[in-house]
Amino acid sequence: MKKNIVLIGFMGTGKTTVSRKLSEMLDIKEIDVDAYIVEREQKSINDIFKEQGEEGFRDIETASLDEIKNEKGIISCGGGAVLRDKNVEILKTNGKIVLLTATPQTIYERVKDDDSRPLLKGNMNVDHIKMLMDRRKDRYIEVADVVIETDNKDVDEIAAEIIEYMGNNS
Ligand code: S3P
Repeated sequence: MKKNIVLIGFMGTGKTTVSRKLSEMLDIKEIDVDAYIVEREQKSINDIFKEQGEEGFRDIETASLDEIKNEKGIISCGGGAVLRDKNVEILKTNGKIVLLTATPQTIYERVKDDDSRPLLKGNMNVDHIKMLMDRRKDRYIEVADVVIETDNKDVDEIAAEIIEYMGNNS
C-alpha cells in the first residue's frame, strides 16, 4: 500500500475498531490521533476540553497531526479533525481519506454508555447527534476520497471494503 489509510467520520462510526482490524489484517502500524493527543498532553480528552476549550483541543490536534505527518500506516482521526483545512492538507499529503458513516440512531447505540466524548456530555441523545452530524455532513463528504457506510455491517466487511478500495486506488 503506497498511501496511508486515513479514517475519518463522526464519533461512533467505528474508526478505532476498524483501524485496529486493518492494522491486524495488513500488519501495518495504527496511529490513533486521539490516543496520541492523550499521551502527548498526559490528560484525557475530557480534561483538555474542560481546561482549554474546543479551540485549545483543535490547536493540539493540528500540532499532533503535523508531528505524525511522516508516519506510515493507518491513521485514525478524531471526528472533528477534518474541520480545519490545514489538517486536511496534512492528511491528504500521504493518505487516502476514508469516510465511515452511520445513522444517528446507530451512533447513539454505539456511544450511549461511553462518557469520554465532551461534545456529547449531557446531550447523549439521537437529536443532538443528528444536529451535530448535519453541521458536519457536507464537510466530511467534501474531503473524503471514498465513503464507506457502516450500518448493519461487521468490522470484517468494513475492513474488506477499505482494503479493496486501497488496492485499486493507492
Ligand atoms: C471529536 C471526536 C472525538 C475526539 C473529541 C472531539 C469531534 O473523537 O477527538 O472528543 O469533534 O467529533 P472520536 O471521533 O474518536 O470519538
